[in-house]
Amino acid sequence: MNDKTRQKIMQNRELLKGYGAWDVGAEETDQQQKLPYLPPLKEKKSGELIALSLDLEEEAGDRNLYRLIENRESRRSFSQEAVSLRQLSFLLWATQGVRKYAGRFKQVTFRNVPSAGSRHPLETYLFLNHVEGIPKGLYHYLPAGHELECIDKREDYEKELTFALGGQRFAACAPVVFIWSALPYRTEWRYGLKAVKYILLDAGHACENLYLACEAMGLGTCAIGAYDQEALDELLGFAPGPSAEKDYECAIYAAAVGKQAETT
Ligand SMILES: Cc1cc2nc3c(=O)[nH]c(=O)nc-3n(C[C@H](O)[C@H](O)[C@H](O)COP(=O)(O)O)c2cc1C
Repeated sequence: MNDKTRQKIMQNRELLKGYGAWDVGAEETDQQQKLPYLPPLKEKKSGELIALSLDLEEEAGDRNLYRLIENRESRRSFSQEAVSLRQLSFLLWATQGVRKYAGRFKQVTFRNVPSAGSRHPLETYLFLNHVEGIPKGLYHYLPAGHELECIDKREDYEKELTFALGGQRFAACAPVVFIWSALPYRTEWRYGLKAVKYILLDAGHACENLYLACEAMGLGTCAIGAYDQEALDELLGFAPGPSAEKDYECAIYAAAVGKQAETT
């Protein structure tokens, strides 16, 4: 290992402890400086909206948590069957659904997954290949109203998405592809340089809920971390980094979802 790599490894390991970088002096966070925060929910764009059901208890069946955890595994082969809109609704509720609002301006969200300081830096984008009644395309989840907004109904993204997901065709062709992005400033506003650690931990919580919610409904999922950053960001329309802009957004995690293929 050369010196440069060793240096970088040491720096990266410091991130595990929440230290952003060695050569930056401690500075008050933007919250301590009383600067405005970035709201945890994006505004609706002009996209067509699809209302999602919140009457979902039946979707989870009556499988007990022990069995769900015991059976959970990464699944990479899916049946040809479509995922239903109710199943998708359950997955979105389980991974980012809002359960209550707090704070003076009701701008703090509490959700079905934990998040450091309840900053909720994640956004959920979906490439829908095969969901009952929903045209193929790119969608964005709006947790406030539990709705999906259509960003682009294009059908021809398979090649680009496969490349963006590191050549993992099983993932790009899955009935549903989750992509989580982060707006880092939502968390940096409070935690400064420690934010990066918390944002990645938050993504893990969302994905684990996805695994368990899928398992409960006979769906399967596989986390995807081996993606091409530039290609995925470009596909989602994010500005290329590096950037210190407050509205900077980038993809940080993904997952493929489909009905579990029958095992013989
Ligand atoms: C952060 C993270 C990134 C991952 N990235 C990929 C990936 O890009 N492709 C893939 O096929 N599996 C990926 N996986 C799934 C792991 O390979 C899988 O969890 C591991 O082999 C253990 O299998 P299990 O989940 O069935 O217990 C990822 C898992 C995690 C937690």
